Amino acid sequence: MSYMFTISPTQRKAIQILSYYVLPILLAVSAVTWVTDSVFVLLGQAALLAVTANLFIKPVSVIYPHPLFALALTFRRELGVASFWMYLFHAMGMFLGRGLSLDMVYNPQGFIIWGAVASMGMWILGLTSNNLSQRLLKRNWKKVQMVAYAVLPIASFHASKAEGEYAKFILITGSFIILKTIQYVITQKRMVKPAA
Ligand code: HEM
Repeated sequence: MSYMFTISPTQRKAIQILSYYVLPILLAVSAVTWVTDSVFVLLGQAALLAVTANLFIKPVSVIYPHPLFALALTFRRELGVASFWMYLFHAMGMFLGRGLSLDMVYNPQGFIIWGAVASMGMWILGLTSNNLSQRLLKRNWKKVQMVAYAVLPIASFHASKAEGEYAKFILITGSFIILKTIQYVITQKRMVKPAA
């Protein structure tokens, strides 16, 4: 039996409203009412998970074409914006909640500096994830979005360094490189036209 994975324009709009507007409002209200330090840490994990999933969708859908992945591909902006909000509240919660100083952030031996570097990428991605930026940047828009390729290893390095062990960094970055390599080989093969 084959299943169709479709979504109506209304459902899509609802998902967009949730990720663009409802999520940040919920996070802001939660942040000032009940959220504790450990929840802000959890938001960092959720942000990293969302960034990772977002970058894995493309290679996975090329390696294993499936209607579900094809549908997921069309939601990368929504997932990206959601990851931006989660990162933002993670960083703000850590920074304000723990009273971090800029000295701690810029300490090159520390792990927060890696979070700060990844943040710059998150802002670039967040600010350009809209139709206006896409129109203005035209062909360069795709190149700008490739900043995500840097955010993934840097943010996972930040997380690993914070946890004091590098499993997360090695696993995430390693599997991304492997998936991208397989994607590249497959697309190259598909592009090769049979000799006339
Ligand atoms: C200026 C920006 C940032 C600041 C100030 C910051 C701060 C912190 C701090 C203080 C911790 C340690 C939490 C703990 O005690 O366990 C942490 C952990 C973490 N951060 Fe960030 N972070 C920033 C950016 C980011 C970004 C961009 C991401 C991902 C997209 C991220 C994801 C994580 C993750 C996954 C952890 C590990 C949580 C754990 O399991 O312990 N952070 N961050």
